[in-house]
Amino acid sequence: VNGKIIIPVVVNVLYSTAAENISDAQIQSQIDVLNQDYTATNTDFSNTPAEFAGVAANVGITFELIKINRKSTNKTSWGTRDAMKSTKKGGLDPTSPTTTLNMWSCNIGGGILGYAQFPGGASATDGVVIDSDYFGITTASYPYNLGRTASHEVGHWMNLRHIWGDASCGDDLVSDTPVHKTSNFGVPTYPYVSTCLPAHNEMTMNYMDYTDDRGMYMFTNGQKARMTALFVAGGVRSGFRN
Ligand code: ARG
Ligand code: ZN
Ligand code: CA
Repeated sequence: VNGKIIIPVVVNVLYSTAAENISDAQIQSQIDVLNQDYTATNTDFSNTPAEFAGVAANVGITFELIKINRKSTNKTSWGTRDAMKSTKKGGLDPTSPTTTLNMWSCNIGGGILGYAQFPGGASATDGVVIDSDYFGITTASYPYNLGRTASHEVGHWMNLRHIWGDASCGDDLVSDTPVHKTSNFGVPTYPYVSTCLPAHNEMTMNYMDYTDDRGMYMFTNGQKARMTALFVAGGVRSGFRN
């Protein structure tokens, strides 16, 4: 145990078309984005408004691609009920899920960009699923073409809630993120004044909102604390300690 949190990643690719069989380079581009976004080395981190600069975090977690599994299938969309995570159901079982982050790239369908399992769930379905159109950067589809779907989903996998708390002016259980009325889309112009009281600006550039990829570029210290708490001895994801 050296104190660093390094997450080994296995990527499971399920494809029914050539385009869905995303390249090794496309996959690596996604790992690179995760490494940038979770160490605040993303080039747009400096766009963080001064108002939020004091809480903007270097989460200090890195990701290492250890294996890519690929499987051709005649299933053209997978939905959100975990079939892609099961070899028996035509997908691919996760590899060592208590010590490895499994990601699946496949066509989800229904306009879903990605989904994740929160910590504490079944090992057999642990990990994140990203639609193949939004996995990585180069060939990904605008405006979700900067790999931020995975940055957001891995946030859920590390116990983060949506910044609006999935309720009107809801609570995300993080004290240094402002209250949001609801999800925000597109790229809101700063300052985006909340309609929740007392008067304040919303942090629309947080990864846990729903803005376009180019509109999200920071986590907060409070979110970092929630994520890193999983990896301490006895934590829900302590299997990942290095
Ligand atoms: N809708 C997805 C979710 O709730 C992901 C949204 C990701 N947003 C993005 N700009 N890539 O988990
Ligand atoms: Zn989400
Ligand atoms: Ca909050």
